[in-house]
Amino acid sequence: MFTARDRLKLLLGGAAFSVSACGGGSSSPVRPTPPPVVVTPPTPAPVIFVPTEGQLRDKFVNQFQVGGAIQVGQLTAPEGTLLGAQFNSITAEFEMKPDIMGPSEGVYNWVEADALLAFAEDNGLQLRGHALLWHRSTPDWMLTGTPAQVKVKLQTYITEVVTRYRGKIYAWDVVNEVITDDGSLGDAYRRSNWWTASGGNADYIDWAFEAARAADPDCKLYINDYGTEFSGKLGRLLDVVRDLQARDIPLDGIGHQMHINVGTSAQQVFDAVDAVDTEFMGLEQHITELDISVYSDPASCFSDQTGCQSDYGTTIPDTVFTNQAQLYRAIFDGLATRSSVNSVTLWGISDAATWLNEYPVSRTNAPLLWDRDRNAKSALQAILDSSFTP
Ligand code: XIL
Repeated sequence: MFTARDRLKLLLGGAAFSVSACGGGSSSPVRPTPPPVVVTPPTPAPVIFVPTEGQLRDKFVNQFQVGGAIQVGQLTAPEGTLLGAQFNSITAEFEMKPDIMGPSEGVYNWVEADALLAFAEDNGLQLRGHALLWHRSTPDWMLTGTPAQVKVKLQTYITEVVTRYRGKIYAWDVVNEVITDDGSLGDAYRRSNWWTASGGNADYIDWAFEAARAADPDCKLYINDYGTEFSGKLGRLLDVVRDLQARDIPLDGIGHQMHINVGTSAQQVFDAVDAVDTEFMGLEQHITELDISVYSDPASCFSDQTGCQSDYGTTIPDTVFTNQAQLYRAIFDGLATRSSVNSVTLWGISDAATWLNEYPVSRTNAPLLWDRDRNAKSALQAILDSSFTP
């Protein structure tokens, strides 16, 4: 340890040397005065927040289940460990969609779904089913034939799947993304392969819900969609819900995907939930696919990949993470006060494994609660610790 006394000695020593050099004759070399010694304290290592086991799920145990989406291949990776340690609900990122579970007519693939269910049961997680019908993952065989034939194929598929997992899945997204983004159509329905196969109408939505209810009377049946943080899309979704209810189509809840970004306000999320509460008392609500992109992209980035914010690479600004943490905290706090919301699922666990690294364009994104090294982010700390300032 270099003390003040040592420093004084050094300085005096230098002075004494100069004096003796003067008195000792002109031939002695003049030695330079040593520079003052500056002692720099070591930079402390950043303190990494480590949540205690179960801290995330426990915090909201009286409000909602906390879910994570995962791929089967990640169950044995760090993501699987974090999921088991901190969550109480699990969603298959893609393995329970029709193109995986129904590869051809009358042929079912249960391998991945069963693996997810086994993981859920081993780790005390509830399984959320996603999704029985989605225009982007429908195998071709299901869509061919007359509307009557398509109805039989869809209902047979749904009956098989829901029956197999009856009592094991607490909620199914029965139809996913059936609402149009086009506000000028005059109705709310997406013009998809399903719309066409139904005969140019939305009858397939009824077929799907009726088959699901018949196969499992206790499972909660959901209509799930993105963009409900925007009033236009939300309004169209509510139009469809109103119509389903008026015709007694079995529907238990509304799923808000909430693929949002750091430019979204928490109030947009609450407005969506509150609008449902105001009009549809008794319907449950889930946040089904929450992630907060670090990019605030225009709509064109999603429709034709133009105008996307450029890649931050490895240098995402700190201010972005601060905003993200504040937004995560505000959303979790606000949802906890809304009793119709009984499940909140994050669409992934760590930034190392998020679909947003590839979608809508390939880019380094960081939308989740653990970073690429699987360290807890300030967003997680902000959710868990109200005294923490992100
Ligand atoms: C995405 C998955 O994250 C990807 O791995 C997959 O390739 C495509 O689907 N809305 C949904 C989810 O309902 O099913 C989507 O998941 C993301 C958008």
